[in-house]
Amino acid sequence: MKIGVLTSGGDAPGMNAAVRAVVRTALHYGMDAYGIYDGYKGLVEGKIKKLDHNDVGQILNRGGTILGSSRLKEFKEKYVREIAVNNLKELGIDALVVIGGDGTYRGAQALTDMGINCIALPGTIDNDIASTEYSIGFFTALDTAIGAIDKLRDTSFSHQRCTVVEVMGRDCGDLSVYSGIACGAEIVITKETGFNREDILKQVSHANAVGKRHLIIVVAENITNVFDLAKDVEANSGYEARATVLGHIQRGGNPSAFDRILASKMGSYAVELLRIGLGGQAVISKGLNVDHCNILDALSQSRNQVTDLYSYLPKLN
Ligand code: F6P
Repeated sequence: MKIGVLTSGGDAPGMNAAVRAVVRTALHYGMDAYGIYDGYKGLVEGKIKKLDHNDVGQILNRGGTILGSSRLKEFKEKYVREIAVNNLKELGIDALVVIGGDGTYRGAQALTDMGINCIALPGTIDNDIASTEYSIGFFTALDTAIGAIDKLRDTSFSHQRCTVVEVMGRDCGDLSVYSGIACGAEIVITKETGFNREDILKQVSHANAVGKRHLIIVVAENITNVFDLAKDVEANSGYEARATVLGHIQRGGNPSAFDRILASKMGSYAVELLRIGLGGQAVISKGLNVDHCNILDALSQSRNQVTDLYSYLPKLN
């Protein structure tokens, strides 16, 4: 058997650990392993290289993805995927492990329908894939956000300011709500909490009126412009205010212990599924345990929001 592996979409710490596990597990079973560079784009362009044991040495602890990544909208088109399938067939590659988010999953299902068995691993800092409790990269990005917010807290306290910080996560509030709890943010704003500017300004003014020295507001990405919110806070609450966008800093860095272990287990498990002839499957996490379901089921599930966590958010008044 010949297995290819690729990483696609936004990179996430732990992707390398998953790639390593796929390659080494495949080699262990006497299969050939191929790295596909720059995601589906590289697959279409034929950027494919046979990998040996040493090619995936020294990467378990490294952030980013040694294979490179991309987003290829055109992969939705059948004629584009046909080029990809031909490239795989020319090399005799039977099966693929793809690591990425929802878009990557859709590509994997489409390739499976075209005769290439694919296994999808959840690799995204956003933790927005419904089928899996945790995705590879989420906890590392969370640690990065926590480290940054702790630093903002130091200066916020010193200057008696309100600090507004935007946390990345696309449309998913997980990184914001988890980091808000972990950093003791006074206010957390996500899609799930909703955003009412007047209400937030009232809460901040009240905090100032009762003598709270400083305040942290965590705002999830794609909710509101944090620089405008900081201006409004400064104009209305009695606090000076500053805004910071954490952005792509959250995507970098060495993977945490959790992400290394989860990614290693998932990579190895994916090869086991291919060995028994399965395709069109998504690997899922139940904490650090791994399991699988159909990609189609994974894509049709709606996200079970982390509503229990929201009850642990601070109550200002
Ligand atoms: O999906 C990961 C992610 O980092 C999101 O949190 C963010 O919205 C998006 O990717 C940013 O994408 P890009 O790196 O293409 O700007």
